[in-house]
Amino acid sequence: MNEKIIINEGTGTDVDENQMEILFQEAQKASEMAYAPYSRFRVGAALLCQDGKIITGVNVENRSFGLTTCAERNSITTAAALGYRRFAAIAVSTPDSIEPTSPCGACRQVLSEFMPPNAKVRFAGSGPNQVNTSVGELYPFDSLHELRQ
Ligand code: THU
Repeated sequence: MNEKIIINEGTGTDVDENQMEILFQEAQKASEMAYAPYSRFRVGAALLCQDGKIITGVNVENRSFGLTTCAERNSITTAAALGYRRFAAIAVSTPDSIEPTSPCGACRQVLSEFMPPNAKVRFAGSGPNQVNTSVGELYPFDSLHELRQ
């Protein structure tokens, strides 16, 4: 199939604080559906699509441990199957830790495939601290982004 390859398009700058708060609440709600019987560490992710739609994902563990997939990547694969290819922001909720837990390295790379460096990222646990950052800060020197020029 001769599909046009779209890399890192879209912008993350137009997402305001109110939208980020809503996104985080959706991630929090989603985390209740996590399948995490081995770690007991639930994670919920909420992706904001360019058209305003929010798509969530949860971590899904496996008794082999190594086949576990993270909430962030699961939100991306669900969104991709619905036809979405670019996202403005992501929020990640880890209610079983008090402090924020950041996306793992594999997830950072997968997020960078579909999100521009300025796309907003928020993550927080059950406590008051939250981290507000961007895809570019989590995954700098993104050669995929350079390929577009
Ligand atoms: N996990 C995520 O889903 N996302 C992250 O960013 C960190 C880790 C999951 C994987 C595993 O199910 C559990 O959290 C404990 O590592």
